[in-house]
Amino acid sequence: MVGAVLLSSALAGCGGGDDSSSGSGSDDKIVLGFSQVGAESGWRTANTKSIQDSAKAAGIELKFADAQGKQENQITAIRSFITQKVDVIAFSPVVTSGWDAVLKEAKDAGIPVILTDRSVDSQDTSLYVSFLGSDFVEEGKKAGQWLVDQYKGKTGTVNIVELQGTTGAAPAIDRQKGFADTIASDPNLKVVKSQTGDFTRAQGKTVMETFLQSTPKIDVLYAHNDDMGLGAIEAIEAAGKKPGTDIKIITVDAVKDGMTALSEGKINYIVECSPLLGPQLMDIVKQVKSGGTPEKRILTKETTFTQEQAKTELPNRQY
Ligand code: AHR
Repeated sequence: MVGAVLLSSALAGCGGGDDSSSGSGSDDKIVLGFSQVGAESGWRTANTKSIQDSAKAAGIELKFADAQGKQENQITAIRSFITQKVDVIAFSPVVTSGWDAVLKEAKDAGIPVILTDRSVDSQDTSLYVSFLGSDFVEEGKKAGQWLVDQYKGKTGTVNIVELQGTTGAAPAIDRQKGFADTIASDPNLKVVKSQTGDFTRAQGKTVMETFLQSTPKIDVLYAHNDDMGLGAIEAIEAAGKKPGTDIKIITVDAVKDGMTALSEGKINYIVECSPLLGPQLMDIVKQVKSGGTPEKRILTKETTFTQEQAKTELPNRQY
């Protein structure tokens, strides 16, 4: 019930209007239903803005629903888009599993689905037309490789604590895997604690506090996003330690706040994950609507940043 209320108010607030009839509308505008994860991080806020701005620029009518981090809200939103007969559905799945039934409903209704940012684990890949987003395993590998390079030729155990993203979410699963596989090449690098911080600053702080209380020697923090890393920095400073010096910090995303902390020496390395998916998504929507077949997997271009690189990049950072 609450989910339904949230959905309807979100739709009304974002161009929902009178949408009881065909999604194509009277002016033949393409209608896109988009179900967003929520607003858990700076990355997510930038991603929402990119999608809303790009839809406007492309002349696409966007029906936007914020799932507030809940899969059941996303399923409700997708079903609502199907009922409204939108032209295309796109969504960023909160978690990877549990989508087959609703995706089949969309397919049976003849509405193409585009995955953005995060993937699903459905075996039947005909349930979606394309997946646009990052390679999260690769991001984890880049984070791990930086650490391997830092400790090359050194002796002694390096205690690593890990702040994972939302349990069951593709970026949490893949960033953990890519990192673990890469640091396995150096037996001195040990993950001594690993817990979810749900991709939020508040949880990053709380979980880091417990890590600091229970683990006497922490050398490195690997946080699956900037926000958790920034929350952890508060906990580290409150414990009288110097982030970036006493504890090396690696994060993922490269949003402005993260890049600022990197340039100030509080974070040591950031692996970029771009939230600016809107323009490419609108191109795919148009392609699908005009009967084209988009690439099944469209990868986002990304880089990495050291402290020095962050100082140069910061003035140009869009998000
Ligand atoms: O799916 C992308 C991830 O989700 C971002 O790295 C994180 O900040 C967000 O919450």
